Amino acid sequence: MYKNYVFFHIINGDIMRKVLIIVGSRREGNCYTFGKRLMTELKKERIPVTSITPGNQKIHLCTGCMDCDQTGVCDFHDDMMENILKVKDADILIFLTPVRWNTLSGDIKIFMDRLNPLYASKELEGKKLISIAIGAKEKELYSSEGAITTLGSFAESAGIKVILHDTIDHCLNVEDLNEKEEAVTKLIEKIVKRIKNI
Ligand SMILES: Cc1cc2nc3c(=O)[nH]c(=O)nc-3n(C[C@H](O)[C@H](O)[C@H](O)COP(=O)(O)O)c2cc1C
Repeated sequence: MYKNYVFFHIINGDIMRKVLIIVGSRREGNCYTFGKRLMTELKKERIPVTSITPGNQKIHLCTGCMDCDQTGVCDFHDDMMENILKVKDADILIFLTPVRWNTLSGDIKIFMDRLNPLYASKELEGKKLISIAIGAKEKELYSSEGAITTLGSFAESAGIKVILHDTIDHCLNVEDLNEKEEAVTKLIEKIVKRIKNI
């Protein structure tokens, strides 16, 4: 089993980084488009990547029962069970969140709360985080910074290291990201480079 693990993680002499992209908007809008393009570029680099959109799954809200603090598992049997396995398996988590009321989306927050079993078992520790917030307002209003700061606090609490964060602004409607070709291409290049340089 150990041999298989090593084989899977080492290709061409490089240690591979398994990436999980968490798309924080359930519509096929700007986060979705960014995630799809990022996945294509990571795959070109032969970096293992998968993505989930928690908003389109069946995920119960955390009730705060705290059972997972004792047991390391959640009492709910829903799509979060599969997500937990994917998070465990990933070395790098990439959160793509739409900015909502100067912070991250409710879908991401619900997902974060349901990661508490992995916090309890310390299985988030040592993972890496890339956080990208996409919002409508201009950068100067710092609206998207709220989302980045919240993701940073989550990472700090969980023992996760933030290796890159950035924002894309002036995106309101679903198609708006397509008008920002240069900025999107540059940011995707930056993310791929950062992952390759770990
Ligand atoms: C309820 C709600 C609140 C929002 N609040 C903000 C905000 O505070 N700042 C901002 O820049 N954009 C805000 N927006 C705009 C979204 O961030 C923007 O439409 C973004 O592109 C959505 O990403 P998506 O296309 O992936 O859903 C808000 C949108 C909604 C629906």
